[in-house]
Amino acid sequence: MAVSEKEILDALRAVQEPELKQNIVDVGMVEDVEIAGPHIKVTVALTMASSPMKDRIKNEVKEALKGIAGVGEVKVVLTLMTSEQRARIFGQAPSEMEGMKGVRKAIAIASGKGGVGKTTLTVNLAIALSMQGQSVGILDADMHGPDIPIMLGIKERPVGSRGMLLPIEKYGLKIMSTGILAGQGDPIVWRGPLVNKAIKEFLGHVLWGNLDFLLVDLPPGTGDAPLTVSTVIPLNGVLIVTTPQKVALADVRRSIGLFRGHDVPIIGIVENMSFFRLPGSPDGEVMEIFGSGGGERIAKAFKLPLLGRIPLDPAIRAGGDTGRPVTLESDSEASDAFKEIASRLLIYCSRPSAREESS
Ligand SMILES: Nc1ncnc2c1ncn2[C@@H]1O[C@H](COP(=O)(O)OP(=O)(O)OP(=O)(O)O)[C@@H](O)[C@H]1O
Ligand SMILES: [Mg+2]
Repeated sequence: MAVSEKEILDALRAVQEPELKQNIVDVGMVEDVEIAGPHIKVTVALTMASSPMKDRIKNEVKEALKGIAGVGEVKVVLTLMTSEQRARIFGQAPSEMEGMKGVRKAIAIASGKGGVGKTTLTVNLAIALSMQGQSVGILDADMHGPDIPIMLGIKERPVGSRGMLLPIEKYGLKIMSTGILAGQGDPIVWRGPLVNKAIKEFLGHVLWGNLDFLLVDLPPGTGDAPLTVSTVIPLNGVLIVTTPQKVALADVRRSIGLFRGHDVPIIGIVENMSFFRLPGSPDGEVMEIFGSGGGERIAKAFKLPLLGRIPLDPAIRAGGDTGRPVTLESDSEASDAFKEIASRLLIYCSRPSAREESS
């Protein structure tokens, strides 16, 4: 005899939503049950894209249905609740960008080209700002290559609280990564193809609290990915990272065009991997491996300040690999370079015109 929907739903009442402590059927998370002979497909809407419990729920759904006579293969599709559904469960829906309301300045780190040091700059600048008394958060907006957790040595995953996400704290910074949207294991099936809606919803649900700065590590390039993020997040400005090579310069031009086209103020250029100080050289001789003056040229051409030049330094790479950014170590040329950029950023933000922009 064929299995009935009622039998399936009754069995699914054994599965709890861990945070709400109610079963997924009564909470309204079971969106759809399809029965095709012994093949069952259950669609479950998660309360949050980043639900740390999604694998557990999926396994428990399979487990709950396994014992029913006539049930063969069980497929579980995970999707997301709409804001309205969430509001019904959690009471008052957080207004759009609720979580951002304590953030004073959101500043993106961008580059036209991948691998030039955006993430490296983001983590080190965050630490340098925090050393100068600022409260700082980092949003890793690179959904498909989230490197921030690696560079800060973060292994734990964020947890939810009443439908909001709590950032992870490390080195005095608050960190959240959109990588948890992509998740490990099975991907979530987005309700519609609107990744920017998902990012928006995600951002609206992060409990940043009060922050002087939120640094946003953008995905590389000048395509859809950085564009989506920069239109969704209310940005107060952007820093553009480049290396002195010519090819990087062409990409920087495109990147500048992209942000100018969206009225995001460009704060300045940071030149990374600018020079290599030869170890053991008595007079501190410098080698300009990727050419020289690239950052300066582009800054001049676009009438933008060059906020700093960061040396090519194995300690910077090691800091990234070990999850202990070099700026935490005192007194090195590398950490001084990041601290100087932080000071210049603070000066920029204290200009009267910058204050007007944010009010
Ligand atoms: N100044 C530097 N000296 C030495 N190594 C560096 C420096 N800047 C970055 N690196 C190293 O280069 C690699 C790429 O840097 P990073 O990941 O920060 O670039 P990215 O622009 O964020 O890349 P993606 O576009 O892939 O996100 C990393 O291994 C990093 O440790
Ligand atoms: Mg990166």
